[in-house]
Amino acid sequence: MLPGVATLAALVAVSHGAITGTRTTAAAAALCSQYAYQSANGYELLNNLWGIGTATSGSQCTNYDGPVNSGIAFSSTWTWQGDQNTVKSYIYAGRQFTRKKVSEIRSLPTTVQWSYNTTNHRANVAYDIFTSTDPNHANSSGDFELMIWLERYGGIWPITDSSTGSPAASVKVAGYTWDLFTGYNGAMRVYSFVVPKGSPIYSFTADVKEFFNYLKTNQNFPESQQYMLIYQFGTEAFVGGPTKFTVSKFQADVN
Ligand SMILES: *[C@@H]1O[C@H](CO)[C@@H](O)[C@H](O)[C@H]1NC(C)=O
Ligand SMILES: *[C@@H]1O[C@H](CO)[C@@H](O)[C@H](O)[C@H]1NC(C)=O
Repeated sequence: MLPGVATLAALVAVSHGAITGTRTTAAAAALCSQYAYQSANGYELLNNLWGIGTATSGSQCTNYDGPVNSGIAFSSTWTWQGDQNTVKSYIYAGRQFTRKKVSEIRSLPTTVQWSYNTTNHRANVAYDIFTSTDPNHANSSGDFELMIWLERYGGIWPITDSSTGSPAASVKVAGYTWDLFTGYNGAMRVYSFVVPKGSPIYSFTADVKEFFNYLKTNQNFPESQQYMLIYQFGTEAFVGGPTKFTVSKFQADVN
């Protein structure tokens, strides 16, 4: 699914907790407005409410919760009402990196630990990566999208061209078993590796390059023509809440 137009990121001034005199550590400002943006420790956060037009009411605020080793922690509270089948927002952190062809990337090691404090909402929890032949392509879409879904709530589905809704394959990649769904979002080819029902992965460590290796071998993914544009992890919120999504650690590298 599209995280949507991310070009109008509003810059939010953030105070980084310097202690001066009797002042105590200033908390970073929460990112609550559309496209409120913050970068820290090699990552960026965007309060991306791209689908808010289909909400009848609701809100979302995202917080940078500090560095964790060479990664970051972040969290977001949200509540959305309206069309239960449309994404209202995409809450994520993205690794900042120099774009390279997928074939020139040796490894994409990552670790993530996350939780939701409720389950009665509709949302996924997923990695999102776009690639394009154009190294200067906007980061809101690409020629290909690779998603890795660690959980889904409320019976939502990844993009699929299967008329029955069943996965294209059950595959083992990076030590985990996945249902692979394939389909198109407009002209963009989407590959979604989805945890089997009832087996959420709250603590995930893997080399994401192995997913690209799988796609190269089994789906003719043209890795020597495709630049990796973005490397993000977050949650696509449909409806529900109030709920809180907490990522106690997100670390991702491009080697
Ligand atoms: C999108 O990509 C540009 C580089 O083209 C980058 O500077 C920017 O921080 C990225 N992220 C967002 C959220 O716009
Ligand atoms: C989950 O967190 C949200 C936001 O802080 C809060 O409003 C809600 O009451 C919490 N729900 C539970 C069950 O703890």
